[in-house]
Amino acid sequence: MAALYEIYDRFALIYEKNRGLFDMTHIFNDFFKILELSQGRLLDLGCGAGEPFSRMFIDKGWQVVGVDFSREMLKMASRYCPEMHTIYSDMRNAEFNDNEFNAIIAIYSLFHLPVKEHKNLFMKCFRWLKPHGKLLFTYATKDYTGYDEFDGCKEFMGQRLHYSHTTPEKLYKSLEKTGFEIISKDYRDIGGEVFLWITAGKK
Ligand SMILES: C[S@@+](CC[C@H](N)C(=O)[O-])C[C@H]1O[C@@H](n2cnc3c(N)ncnc32)[C@H](O)[C@@H]1O
Repeated sequence: MAALYEIYDRFALIYEKNRGLFDMTHIFNDFFKILELSQGRLLDLGCGAGEPFSRMFIDKGWQVVGVDFSREMLKMASRYCPEMHTIYSDMRNAEFNDNEFNAIIAIYSLFHLPVKEHKNLFMKCFRWLKPHGKLLFTYATKDYTGYDEFDGCKEFMGQRLHYSHTTPEKLYKSLEKTGFEIISKDYRDIGGEVFLWITAGKK
């Protein structure tokens, strides 16, 4: 089976063709209101082409760092989000200073990591966020995989991709144990796919 980064290397062309297909401005606006900051530093984990979220932050004057392990997705980012500082890395190996970011996002990316590794990433995000910093990520649930808890492959655009999740209740507990306060949890249907969108804050 192809590695996930190879699959995303191949998907890059499709992403390129589908640019702007789904309008996520309302999600960005909701998150931006919660941030209560006009400018700051954002970390985008699994940034892909940096669209639409990082692009919208940059347009508001934010400094953005994007991490992705697909070279082809990062090539797109260099075209569509050239202001973003990109790091070619598996997000699990990325390291930053404590209190470095005002916000961290992981949009449609974190659910590819095995669920047993989520806690570690949450702990790192907590450290990297400044006090009152916010985390926004999409989480897979039963609505997407058909199971309460899942760790396996699902077909997406003709490829078998790895997805992993626990129940929302266990996810909330894990975030709270890490020190996060859950600010919002919304099931959103985008393009016929339902994911749980979580916003959490560092107290
Ligand atoms: C579905 S795309 C989403 C891209 C972007 N966040 C967006 O909303 O359009 C998932 C991205 O996460 C990246 N990704 C998945 N797992 C990763 C990992 N462990 N480390 C770094 N990047 C990863 C993929 O290469 C891909 O670019």
